[in-house]
Amino acid sequence: MEKTLILLKPDAVKRRLSGEIFSRFEKKGLKIVGLKLMRLSKAQAERHYSVHKGKPFFNGLVEYITSGPIVAAVLEGENSISITRTLSGATDGSKAAPGTIRGDYSMGIEKNIIHASDSSESFEHEFPIFFSKEEVQEYNCGDEENIF
Ligand code: CMP
Repeated sequence: MEKTLILLKPDAVKRRLSGEIFSRFEKKGLKIVGLKLMRLSKAQAERHYSVHKGKPFFNGLVEYITSGPIVAAVLEGENSISITRTLSGATDGSKAAPGTIRGDYSMGIEKNIIHASDSSESFEHEFPIFFSKEEVQEYNCGDEENIF
């Protein structure tokens, strides 16, 4: 089954929204297979966001994502990449649709609560910045036939 990476950014952690956000993904049918609370180094943040290097918001983005603890998670399920992106909503929280995570909890584009891999190529780039393969659990919940 497809895996994806999500990061709950410092605004989500400090606003005590982590449980609420994971609850949405779990209720949808995605499974948590990797999870950690961590503080990113500048080097890790620059590697994660390397595709944005040179853009006007890059330095601010790196400064922000390293400013406090984040929660990194690997979620698994059929089409988990597109599903997490849909549930997360548009990048700019002030424009994201109500009912989405950013639409419900974010007012801006930098403090936008969550990052979610946008493709399998992005997942392959991002995953090793946060996890080793041994830190991911393989298991079945037993109800997969009712969900997928
Ligand atoms: P994320 O999904 O983590 O991926 C890249 C991040 O860059 C994005 O969320 C936003 O937080 C941030 N971002 C994108 N565009 C801008 C912008 N114009 N100004 C500030 N931050 C931005």
